[in-house]
Amino acid sequence: MRITILEVQKLKNRGERIPMVTAYDYTSAQIADRAGVPLLLVGDSLGMVVLGHTSTVPVTLDEMLHHMKAVVRGSQRALVVGDLPFLTYTTCEQAIASACRVMQEAGVQAVKLEGGTSVAPIAARLVELGIPVMGHIGFTPQAVNQLGARVQGRAAAAAARLIRDALAIEAAGAFALVLELVPAPLASAITSRLRIPTIGIGAGAGCAGQVQVWHDMFGLYTDFLPRHARRYLSLAEQMSAAITTYANEVREGAFPTAEQSSTMDAATLQEALALVDGAP
Ligand code: KIV
Repeated sequence: MRITILEVQKLKNRGERIPMVTAYDYTSAQIADRAGVPLLLVGDSLGMVVLGHTSTVPVTLDEMLHHMKAVVRGSQRALVVGDLPFLTYTTCEQAIASACRVMQEAGVQAVKLEGGTSVAPIAARLVELGIPVMGHIGFTPQAVNQLGARVQGRAAAAAARLIRDALAIEAAGAFALVLELVPAPLASAITSRLRIPTIGIGAGAGCAGQVQVWHDMFGLYTDFLPRHARRYLSLAEQMSAAITTYANEVREGAFPTAEQSSTMDAATLQEALALVDGAP
């Protein structure tokens, strides 16, 4: 049985911090799920870390569906949240159609929408229809062309706007709220005003949970690490060294050996060759 949004709320009520990680494919979902991570996010960050775009803006609903299906197949316990991508939830009707696809075709258990008060009526309609919604405010990557990728809510008016946004998303019935690139004291203030858990990324330790991007955590690129991320492994370096070894072994004839090969009875091979070449 998968974790439900009610159990996520219970974690928050018990004061247990909630870990969440992005996953974009079967294997990563399986690893995170087996490690006991309760929330998996099929984030539209896949546009950058998997598909090589410079932002999340070009990601389509079909692309999200492809990855969500794999993550659902790879996990059994975790609650899988799927991002609705850019401009796929501009009206209630469109949001319902998009959420319908990700829940029915991909099988995710919840959707995530970026935005505050302006998105709250859409979130409320989805919740009314039985669709668990996770909100996302602060730096909202789909608005990168408007906001720039920087900390939000530093000035008093902007901070007040974010608090109102958070309250509006909670009032809409969201079960959790991502706070991205928000000053830690403001994120703590929002967290203490909300009943639902906040999930921070670049928002300090005062949030009810944390989310990290898979590729950041495991060092799957060598040239870039956002300030809010911690690298738990340096896989790009290790993988690069391993691939160099493999390529050298292929060139030298050191791979494969008998260990990676299967054998065949010599007489059977002769018989097959005779069938192809004709009997001598
Ligand atoms: O797309 C994503 O990975 C996200 C997280 C950064 C919260 O939205």
